[in-house]
This record gives sequence, C-alpha cells and structure tokens, in this order.
Amino acid sequence: MGLNDLQEERLMNRLGPEDYQSNRHIRKILNLAQAFKGDVFYDLGCGRGQLCVVAVAEFGVKRAVGIELHRGRAAKAAERIQEMGLTDRIEIRNEDFMESDLHDATIVYCGLGEVDEDVALFGRKLKTGCKIVSLFLPFVGILPAAADYPFYLMKVPFRKTKDVSLWTSKVLFTDASVEELYQELDTDREYRYDKRTFKRMMKKRFPSL
Ligand SMILES: C[S@@+](CC[C@H](N)C(=O)[O-])C[C@H]1O[C@@H](n2cnc3c(N)ncnc32)[C@H](O)[C@@H]1O
Repeated sequence: MGLNDLQEERLMNRLGPEDYQSNRHIRKILNLAQAFKGDVFYDLGCGRGQLCVVAVAEFGVKRAVGIELHRGRAAKAAERIQEMGLTDRIEIRNEDFMESDLHDATIVYCGLGEVDEDVALFGRKLKTGCKIVSLFLPFVGILPAAADYPFYLMKVPFRKTKDVSLWTSKVLFTDASVEELYQELDTDREYRYDKRTFKRMMKKRFPSL
C-alpha cells in the first residue's frame, strides 16, 4: 500500500539529515544548554551515539540516553558505548522516541524536523525546566530562550506566541517578514527539512497567515 501525501511528508521530515553532527557542533549544543554534572541528557535519534559520549566524557553529565529507531544503528551505538566502557552512564534504547519515557530528562536534543505532534508531545513528556535543543528552527510558534545558530534552545513549559513577526525575528535574529524567512530557507543549503510541512505548520500556528 502506498503512502498518502501526509504520511510521506512526515516520513521525509523524520529522516533528518543523513550525516551526523561534528564534535564541534555537539559541543555547541551542550554549551547552549549549559550541560553540567547534574544533567540527564537525551539524544532523540542518536545514530552512532556520539552526542551521549561527548555529554558524558567532556561535559560530565551524570547520565545520557540515546534513542534510536534503526536497529542496526542502535546496536552499533551500544557496541561503541561498551567498547568505551561507558555503559554505566550511557543507555542506548532501540525505540521510537515518540513512544519513549523521557520523564527524567533535563536536556533533550532533537535534530529532526518538527511534526505536528511535537509541541504537545514534548510539553506533556518533559518535566518543567527541561531544555530542548532543536536544529535549524525552533518549534513553530515557540519562542527560543537562546540560540547559537543552527541550534535553538527552548524550555518547558514552552513560551508560545501567535505573533508571527515576533517569532520570525527570534528565528532570523532581526526584524523580517515571513516571506523573508521562507526565502532564507529556500536559499539555505544547510536546511534539509521538508518545507511543505513547515509552511503548513506556520499557517496552523499563526492565525494571521
Ligand atoms: C542524522 S541522525 C542524527 C544522529 C545524532 N543525533 C547527531 O546529530 O549526530 C538522525 C537519527 O534519528 C533516527 N530517528 C529518526 N526518527 C526516529 C524516531 N522516531 N525515534 C528514534 N530515532 C529516530 C534516525 O534513524 C537517525 O539515525
């Protein structure tokens, strides 16, 4: 049975970029979130598990959890963690993070494109004060607390806005129109998420559009 448009859109959005973050970028993520020894760090879609390794080995977080849907990747990540002798501090779970228990997370990284459910899901699953770092864009209609492009930091409970100009100014770091934001994404060679999904969510979250 073929996928309908919406299912295909979701799948494309969830695949994310094929490559992994470099250690430089990983340090940016963890610095942005001010990771330290009291934190429990989750990487949603952890691939080879390198974010968890850097979080534990360099930033000293007390525990890291990498969640990976792809069985082979999860197995490989678990093998690496074992070889590095970090199994007491890093757990790799082979599951869909949409179904995961995230209750003890204090910092979450999600580098995958946003889908409709995310804001409600994370708002429900993450505890108050939890920081979530996204890639390329904050969640649509959520004001970031800080940014170090390409990463945006949001905090639970989310600060929502229906003011599209305000949100756009936080995304682009200057006053700009929505058209300018769309143009920016069209010309940004780094941005690899599905723009149809993004524009659909913009219309849904900002009634003025
Ligand atoms: C590009 S990798 C990123 C790895 C790592 N977070 C990084 O930034 O270096 C994205 C990973 O997310 C995984 N993934 C996608 N959707 C997922 C889901 N719903 N639950 C768990 N993992 C998922 C993919 O299999 C892929 O390995």
